[in-house]
Amino acid sequence: MSVTRTHCGAPRPADEGAHITVYGWVDRRRDQGGLIFLDLRDHTGILQVVLDAARAQEAHDAAHGVRLEYVLRVEGELRRRAAENVNPRLGTGEVELHATGCAVLSAARTPPFPVNEDTDVEEQLRLRHRYLDLRRERMQHNLRARARFSTELRRAMSEQGFVEIETPLMIRSTPEGSRDYLVPSRLFPGSFYALPQSPQLYKQLCMVAGFDRYFQLAHCMRDEDLRADRQPEFTQLDIEMAFVDEEDVFAALEHAIPSAWHACEFRGSPLRVPFPRIPWREAMARYGSDKPDTRFEMLLHDVTEVARSSGFRVFAEAVARGGVVKAICVKGGDDLTRSEIEGRLTDVVRAAKARGLAYLWRRADGWQSGIAKFFSDEELERISATVGADIGDCVLMVADTAEVATTALGALRNHLARARRLYDEARVDFVWVTEFPMFERSEETGAIQPAHHPFTMLHADDVELLESDPLAVRSRAYDIVVNGREVGSGSIRITDPAIQRRVLAALGIGDAEAREKFGFLLEAFEYGVPPHGGWAGGIDRMLMEGLGTENIRDVIAFPKNQQAQEPLTQAPAPVDTAQLRELGLSLLPPRQ
Ligand code: AMO
Repeated sequence: MSVTRTHCGAPRPADEGAHITVYGWVDRRRDQGGLIFLDLRDHTGILQVVLDAARAQEAHDAAHGVRLEYVLRVEGELRRRAAENVNPRLGTGEVELHATGCAVLSAARTPPFPVNEDTDVEEQLRLRHRYLDLRRERMQHNLRARARFSTELRRAMSEQGFVEIETPLMIRSTPEGSRDYLVPSRLFPGSFYALPQSPQLYKQLCMVAGFDRYFQLAHCMRDEDLRADRQPEFTQLDIEMAFVDEEDVFAALEHAIPSAWHACEFRGSPLRVPFPRIPWREAMARYGSDKPDTRFEMLLHDVTEVARSSGFRVFAEAVARGGVVKAICVKGGDDLTRSEIEGRLTDVVRAAKARGLAYLWRRADGWQSGIAKFFSDEELERISATVGADIGDCVLMVADTAEVATTALGALRNHLARARRLYDEARVDFVWVTEFPMFERSEETGAIQPAHHPFTMLHADDVELLESDPLAVRSRAYDIVVNGREVGSGSIRITDPAIQRRVLAALGIGDAEAREKFGFLLEAFEYGVPPHGGWAGGIDRMLMEGLGTENIRDVIAFPKNQQAQEPLTQAPAPVDTAQLRELGLSLLPPRQ
């Protein structure tokens, strides 16, 4: 625009008397006949504009038909407001613009929801008119924070010698374990590109190519069931480093993430570094989760030995079957009622496959609950000492297989912490969880599958277990967990072809299949591969933590809804038959 523009949020009392021109959207409007007051908004703030029919008839007339969200240009003289009219909530609250001219640059339909206040609006409607939703202050703030965070991460990675390399979006499918989004090829009908679930194999190729330290803010696409912290399309801070071990990867990230976090003044700043390291086995044993929330205590304890000999049949039988009994102590849990424990709390452990929840209150006049009579005083004393129960506490116990008892109490621990507000909302805990198991059993097929991905190196002490007891093998994989949410994963990779072959064999992948699926990577490794490792973290999830939102869509400009649709442009959408024909595709009748 040819006229010098002043931003709406800029004017201050010192600018009194200045003749300025502002551009923006009408945020509020009061028409008092001869006087019209408009609040004009741009991305920097809001300025009150006064249109006085007695002084500037034309400008006043132009403003007469103006409604909310019209786009205007207003010029005029900046004046101080009278003391009684000062608005302390606005940065510009001590001044106002007395218009000499006003032009409507664009009229606006009545918005389907208020843009000028943070009212609750049905999310589908917000997404349908995302451009209006993004005009709102909170979303402006979130997306500007996102831009800043990305810029600061890039800066912090570059200053450590990382090189940003863009990898392709149309690729052969990578083995990340989710369903691929496919792109049909016109030139090779019947063949498909896959959209990357991550740049995993390309970044390993960058290591073979001698880049030493790679990073990328990478777009990843996965066709998986959506949750509050999952999107079909998301962004990773993706890194890979040559000639390193775990500590080098940790150090690079413990520099980059906190420096970007602090520059953005995110929740929980300053972060505690180095991030504590918790081996997976310890995380499971103490927190009942591989995503430990370390903001509060209430740790799990093992009371199997006391339970073994107790007269409480449910416990003794579970232990006799090879199970365990795990317990947590709810400090001040005296207020938990029987119906609460047998209702909501039991539902939580049942959802995690446990059969039930046992409980004991420790009160001034002794132990109370239906099961107290099955334990001797000495046994109760031992339980109490193990879990650290004082008078006024409640002990909650689950007897089951080690896996079920642990995860059920872990889920209960998180539930109780939320319900009883056991942590400071402003606190943000980053931790490393290390030494993840190498393999896990698929819940659907029962087959052994990689817990991370098949290029993850095993723990040196466990190589001998690879064939005999694969589920006991620890890996050199690590996650970053923040307040109980996984935000990133990585590993030191296999570069020894013999080990790679054994790992693939444990997964039931023979030489021929390996060559067919990622032979290009194995071949590249035959030309001199440096030992390497890396990590990738969800930018969206880190922003959720930094900005304190539970909804991943609040940190993405144009997200998909829970059905993986984009309501604004209405993707996905059918395509012309001609397009299909060109791609050599024809559609089957819709699935029933
Ligand atoms: P992984 O598959 O664990 O590892 O992904 C790393 C991180 O990406 C984020 N993430 C998601 N965020 C939003 N929506 C999703 N659907 C989604 N899926 C994953 C999470 C997750 O922790 N290539 C490996 C990394 C490596 O080994 O270097 C990988 O992608 O924050």
